[in-house]
Amino acid sequence: MYLDKEEESMLSGEKGEALRLAMEIILKLGEFYNAERTIKITSSQISGVSYKNIGDAGIDLLRKFKNVKVSVKTFLNPIGFELDFPYDFTHDENFISKQMEIVKIFNDLGVYESLTCTPYYYYSPSFGEHIAWAESSAIVYANSVLGARTNRESGISALASSLTGRTSYYGMHLEENRKATILVETDFKPDYFTSTVLGLYLGKNFNGKIPYFKTVENDLDTLKQLGAAMNASGSIPMFHVENITPEYKNGLNTDHEKIHIEFSEIEEFREKINSNIEPEVLMAGCPHLSSNEIRKIATFVKNKKVKNGKSVYFFTSRKIKNENQELVKIIENTGAKIYTDTCMVVSPLKDKFNTLYLSSGKSSYYIGKEKKIVLSDLFGILEVMMT
Ligand code: F3S
Repeated sequence: MYLDKEEESMLSGEKGEALRLAMEIILKLGEFYNAERTIKITSSQISGVSYKNIGDAGIDLLRKFKNVKVSVKTFLNPIGFELDFPYDFTHDENFISKQMEIVKIFNDLGVYESLTCTPYYYYSPSFGEHIAWAESSAIVYANSVLGARTNRESGISALASSLTGRTSYYGMHLEENRKATILVETDFKPDYFTSTVLGLYLGKNFNGKIPYFKTVENDLDTLKQLGAAMNASGSIPMFHVENITPEYKNGLNTDHEKIHIEFSEIEEFREKINSNIEPEVLMAGCPHLSSNEIRKIATFVKNKKVKNGKSVYFFTSRKIKNENQELVKIIENTGAKIYTDTCMVVSPLKDKFNTLYLSSGKSSYYIGKEKKIVLSDLFGILEVMMT
């Protein structure tokens, strides 16, 4: 793989051990994927930052990256609790102190303490921009909705990219790999909720394909839900929607499969996932809620109260929460809680409950492995949980 002078110098250790290690990671990955060279990136996003996920081995690896700063805008995925309210999530002092150490390591590296899976609400890369993001729901949004270019990095390769300012030039960075390999026709127009069920279904059954949808509701939150569910249940890094997403023209490979999905098929699929036990809690905001979603929720729940014996939790980023303080008040006046910095999957909050209402395919994919769940339309659930 070709390296320029600066990359050679990083690899030789001239610029310190952390950069040597980072460049070695980029090189190894590039060689594995037969990349001819690297490409400069403008932004990076690091996942796997919850102590729940990376444990002591992960911290030991992070400790090796000392005396160095990131060279591009770098964002962090959610951690295991909201920084201001760790005890709402856990009383395990070891968990809290280790999680705090992870955040400090990233702060010392100059990483932005965004703690969200929606970095695009902080920084929206332009069409054609090369980035190195790791969060699966964010990379599919960046590729499909924004037209930026990123592979699904691991936490450690994203960190290596943020330090070196480079990633290996392969996969979704290359034009020829961004074309759809499967044409999806449906007998319904996927909307905010049905898109997440459809995404879950497609990921499970068409792993590794890039879908081209004939129709999906033209709404950013719907596209966010669709992509998040697909890339969680299957490796689907990008999709196109006719007349909507930026690369749909010429976005379909000439040699593609064609499938037709009926609404009854995804309803049947959802029924199989769902428990018949009435849940005591709703957890929503996977991926983290946008301002628009918060506005819709606030309008729906205004002057309502969470029923006795029920709990309602929402998750968003600190930026979006701060920008919507009046709406947040309306929602929290019902007895619901909006947390930042964390989510229902990477925090231990869900462990307090046996059965959960979820409104997103991605969260149901992960939580459904451990718990009984009911995946349903957010506003339908709120109708049941509030009075
Ligand atoms: Fe975000 Fe957690 Fe879902 S990181 S995409 S809310 S699993």
